[in-house]
Amino acid sequence: MEVREAIQSRRSVGRVKQDPVPKEIVEEILNSAVHAPNHKITEPWRFHVFTGKGRGEFARARAETARLMAVAEGEEEEYIAGRASRERKKAFRAPVVITVISKGGRDEVETLENYAACAAAVQNMQLTAHALGLATIWRTGPVAYHPYMRGFFGLENDDRVAAYLYLGYAEETQRPRKREPVSDWTVWHEG
Ligand SMILES: Cc1cc2nc3c(=O)[nH]c(=O)nc-3n(C[C@H](O)[C@H](O)[C@H](O)COP(=O)(O)O)c2cc1C
Repeated sequence: MEVREAIQSRRSVGRVKQDPVPKEIVEEILNSAVHAPNHKITEPWRFHVFTGKGRGEFARARAETARLMAVAEGEEEEYIAGRASRERKKAFRAPVVITVISKGGRDEVETLENYAACAAAVQNMQLTAHALGLATIWRTGPVAYHPYMRGFFGLENDDRVAAYLYLGYAEETQRPRKREPVSDWTVWHEG
């Protein structure tokens, strides 16, 4: 698939089949990530791939995070288990979930630019997956940033979760993308 075509036809897909994705394909998608631009070649990305039963580890961490959040918010006992259970199930929404972590830099600017590089890496992964006939959705949410999840992934100081990338074969037809024309957001300086 031609790059422009991939960019314009990619869509986030929230619901995918449980059919497994061959490891070589996941590796090819991961490999595309590390070709993203990154200032000072900091190579700020780290990846955790959860697949098959391995998603259970991720599910348990999500459930515990949801439980802690519910307790902190003063939720009643009877609702806490339900919230944890719903969160647990999210780990199984796709056959492969890749967590992309952005490493903190030596100063604030490097940390910011590392995160920018990781965002580019995630887009590379999404486009590569799309070109290979797979669907993705980039997700985050409060659970991704919670201290318990940070501990689960062993994050230090300015490290952060950049994405949970859900990957699988699409089962739904993709909705057309809605965007305002780029001319609405562009100022030309032409002398
Ligand atoms: C940093 C970031 C975080 C996102 N988090 C979520 C999320 O938590 N849940 C979700 O449904 N989509 C999430 N998305 C995906 C957007 O919803 C999606 O890209 C947007 O709806 C545009 O759709 P498209 O990707 O098909 O163009 C996230 C995207 C980015 C860039």
